Amino acid sequence: MKISVVGTGYVGLVTGACFSDAGHEVLCIDNDPKKIDLLHKGVMPIYEPGLDEIVARNVKSGRLKFSTSIAEGTAFAEVIFIAVGTPPGVGGEANMTYVEQVGRQVAEHMTSYRLLVEKSTVPAKTSEYLKRTILKYLREDTDFDVASNPEFLREGTAIEDATHPDRIVVGVESQRAGDLLEEIYRPILQKGGGEFLRMSVTSAELTKHASNSFLAMKISYINAVARICELAGADVGQVAKGMGLDPRIGPRFLSAGVGYGGSCFPKDVDAFVRLSDALGIDFKLLKEVQAINKTQREYVMKKIKQELWVVQDKTIAIFGLAFKPETDDVREAPSLYFVPKLGEMKAKLRAWDPVAEGKFKEIHPELECVPDLYECAKGADLVLILTEWDAVKKIDLKKLKEIMACPVIVDGRNVFKPEEIRALGFTYHSVGRN
Ligand SMILES: NC(=O)c1ccc[n+]([C@@H]2O[C@H](COP(=O)([O-])OP(=O)(O)OC[C@H]3O[C@@H](n4cnc5c(N)ncnc54)[C@H](O)[C@@H]3O)[C@@H](O)[C@H]2O)c1
Repeated sequence: MKISVVGTGYVGLVTGACFSDAGHEVLCIDNDPKKIDLLHKGVMPIYEPGLDEIVARNVKSGRLKFSTSIAEGTAFAEVIFIAVGTPPGVGGEANMTYVEQVGRQVAEHMTSYRLLVEKSTVPAKTSEYLKRTILKYLREDTDFDVASNPEFLREGTAIEDATHPDRIVVGVESQRAGDLLEEIYRPILQKGGGEFLRMSVTSAELTKHASNSFLAMKISYINAVARICELAGADVGQVAKGMGLDPRIGPRFLSAGVGYGGSCFPKDVDAFVRLSDALGIDFKLLKEVQAINKTQREYVMKKIKQELWVVQDKTIAIFGLAFKPETDDVREAPSLYFVPKLGEMKAKLRAWDPVAEGKFKEIHPELECVPDLYECAKGADLVLILTEWDAVKKIDLKKLKEIMACPVIVDGRNVFKPEEIRALGFTYHSVGRN
């Protein structure tokens, strides 16, 4: 089948590449000419493990193409996926400007039936606004459908998630729209497994809010438990293991740490709270999830301050800027809280991240970044771990201790075993463990 995907970011590019790898003909569109130029040159505009290979393979086979033109995308395929950003807007509500733009531009170029699929995470009822927008700007009297197909992939494992989905959720209003989406996903489901769920559009939109908010709730829950563990003299890692082996709970998203970040959880929980407020429901549980997440960073900051006493002029080495390993995405990353706060306190900061330095420096060009972990830690009074990259897990601790001015680690990701690292002579603070 022919498919257009609008927005070639973390979601759109992975989706387009995986659809083409499944045998479809795909045109990926972005209004950022720099991104399309890079893609034409075979350079990935984002870091996602394995993506470059899939893109190269499918470009070579002629099944994957790129363009900046929505007119071309509208003419190219009957099904158009919208995968543009929906960042937090004024007052925290999702900014729907880009989704509206795409709806309008597609409408202006449509001359026969088109199915517009919301792949971006959008507030419930977006399809109603999208339909209205299309009707306003349609130049010819043509049929169309709007569907919701929320994306559940995770950065860092996006290819595996897109090719082996546990479920494909589609919200449709017509048999035709549902059948088109089933045809698109058939090769992926046949190869990778997973369930194809047809439901109403609003249910599909809400499934995404409810899923991400639930996962964020698990993280805030374990972070709240971590604080209790620390005071009660328990180890949150052991508690989480004991909890997670219960299949009703499950082990994932039970890692205590510095709190959740990224482009999805903070924004999606916020959107669900706002939607509930608008519907007259005070979703206090989710408001507490947000409060715990916010204070979790402050909680780790307190450990730094207590350890250093005077922060001014102390050298702090930051290990990790990305919101999680295996991505260069820094949106809502904990590093965006710690770097300016520690900067205000006049600490001397030096950071290391294998792939996120460039994106972080677009926001904080003043931060000194170095390409080597040991160089980063040289002469430091404290190492702050914000991303559990493999290189951090595998660091030579004896060497680290020798090169630091003071062997102190504040570990926001519970990378090391407290007793082992203390036996090496480190002062070690982690989350939920003594
Ligand atoms: N990143 C994730 O892990 C993830 C997971 C699930 C869902 N989502 C959701 O998917 C959506 C996209 O997220 P992302 O992380 O891929 O964002 P992104 O910022 O990486 O990519 C969005 C792309 O859309 C392009 N764009 C914006 N307006 C456009 C327009 N009018 N025409 C053409 N292109 C346009 C931008 O240039 C950008 O390249 C968001 O709603 C997000 O919440 C993201």
